[in-house]
Amino acid sequence: MEGSIPRHVGLIMDGNGRWAQARHMPRSLGHNAGMNAMIRISKRAKELGVSWLTVYVLSTENLASRPKEELDGLFGLFRKYFTVNVKKLYKQGAGVKVIGDLSPLPQDVKELLERGEKDSPAGAAFTLVFAVNYGSRAEIARAAASLSADGEEITEESLAKRLYTSDIPAPDLIIRTGGEKRLSNFLLYQGAYSELYFTDVLFPDFTPREFEKAIEEYSRRDRRFGGINELKR
Ligand code: IPE
Ligand code: IPE
Ligand code: MG
Repeated sequence: MEGSIPRHVGLIMDGNGRWAQARHMPRSLGHNAGMNAMIRISKRAKELGVSWLTVYVLSTENLASRPKEELDGLFGLFRKYFTVNVKKLYKQGAGVKVIGDLSPLPQDVKELLERGEKDSPAGAAFTLVFAVNYGSRAEIARAAASLSADGEEITEESLAKRLYTSDIPAPDLIIRTGGEKRLSNFLLYQGAYSELYFTDVLFPDFTPREFEKAIEEYSRRDRRFGGINELKR
């Protein structure tokens, strides 16, 4: 594929519920299909040379407002990924990282996610970042509170260093599937200059080819960061 490859891609995997409903299936089967799609996308992202792929798997609002049954289904998928699938990732020299507040999750899920991160190979060329019970507002408030508790000055840089993403670059591209055109509390601070890509495709139908289309469009974008593009000056 031609053009520049984003170093860090954020992925808002939306549309699992509607995909299942359209098939008269329970929403949980939509999440199952979504997890399979996510595994295929992470494989392609790694092959294309992306270094970090951050997948939004559960927002702070989802944890607060989805039915218990649906949340239990999602926790089951996390258990499966972090016991079975993660090993395949390690074998390929890739790792996982988790961002978000894990404290309200079932204890065994919390421990599995933490272990998944600890067991990741050092210096991995590809990291799959799971945003779990993640919300940017909570993340920013937590970062500011921790600086203030330490009596440290709040600057753009000091705040960024207290975010969950302190050790990874800002996302170059944020993709949202499922037709909605909003960020739903995902990487608001980090995404200040991210390119945004929206598609109507429901996440379970989002194929590696669809992912490549987003990367191709990204490579044609003109990122100015508030300046003037040299070629067009
Ligand atoms: C996104 O799919 C995945 C999660 C929020 C866990 P949804 O469950 O929001 O699917 P829709 O938007 O209802 O179709
Ligand atoms: C965003 O999707 C969260 C995830 C994909 C995990 P939602 O379905 O929760 O977003 P809203 O409610 O439509 O904004
Ligand atoms: Mg949704």
